[in-house]
Amino acid sequence: MKDSSNLPKNMTVIPTGAALGAEITGLDLSRPLPAEKIAAVREAVLEHGVVFFRNQSLDDAAQVAFTRYFGPASVHIRDNQPDRPTDEIMVVSNVREHGKPIGSLGHGEIRFHSDLSYMSHPGTFSVLYAVEIPEAGGTTSWCNNNAAYDGLDDTMKARLAGLRALHLHFRPEQNPDPAVDHPIVCTHPETNLKTLFVSPYFAKSVVGMSEDEGRALLETLFAHQTQDEYIWAHEWRVGDLVIWDNRATMHRREPFQDSQRRILKRTQIFSESRPVG
Ligand code: OGA
Ligand code: MN
Repeated sequence: MKDSSNLPKNMTVIPTGAALGAEITGLDLSRPLPAEKIAAVREAVLEHGVVFFRNQSLDDAAQVAFTRYFGPASVHIRDNQPDRPTDEIMVVSNVREHGKPIGSLGHGEIRFHSDLSYMSHPGTFSVLYAVEIPEAGGTTSWCNNNAAYDGLDDTMKARLAGLRALHLHFRPEQNPDPAVDHPIVCTHPETNLKTLFVSPYFAKSVVGMSEDEGRALLETLFAHQTQDEYIWAHEWRVGDLVIWDNRATMHRREPFQDSQRRILKRTQIFSESRPVG
């Protein structure tokens, strides 16, 4: 992640003090942002991996417009979104109306993952905007995969060089055919930093290794990545907007009671290039 300074007037970037994450204050995201502020937000996301803004009041169009500052907002590929007035918005929710879910991802745990890593061109930035938040649970944590790479010993770094992992979504119809593999250690195209690009949710095997050997290596990496020192947890409040870089981080959601309502809106940008080692 990268250094930023010389912020535009009234804008502050306050690091969380944990392995990653920062809060940006002084911006109203419902209004168009000037180029210098867009550039400063981008720099902050690249430097801190994940950035949040409190007390935002956004409609779908404003969220899509904000997302487009950073690349083409993709139309969501999932077809199980019942009500989708804005194609680029994916509703993340456990709420059911008239017996039908209004969104995706339910109320269970979502294990650590980088969005869309099972695609040949995975996600770059993702944006989540909090509309309704449960009283307890549903916390989202991010992991700094640059720091996790740096924290490996030299023997492991040498072992990983040139290795690739197969990424699979648990729902077969979401995977491309053939399924894709990516380097286990990727070089971030904008920061040039090395990152550990595997996650417990999607990385399933190591190309060229036996099932058992690959699984054992991945489990070792997952245990390393998910140590507290690499992680920061966000306690959601209504009106939060969070934006993160999937190329340098992975994230996990804690479960929450299905009797509680949780509604977030998500937008997403895909990479224009394939991850490189
Ligand atoms: C996502 C996701 C986590 C959450 O939308 O990509 O992982 O906290 N959401 O809902
Ligand atoms: Mn996700």
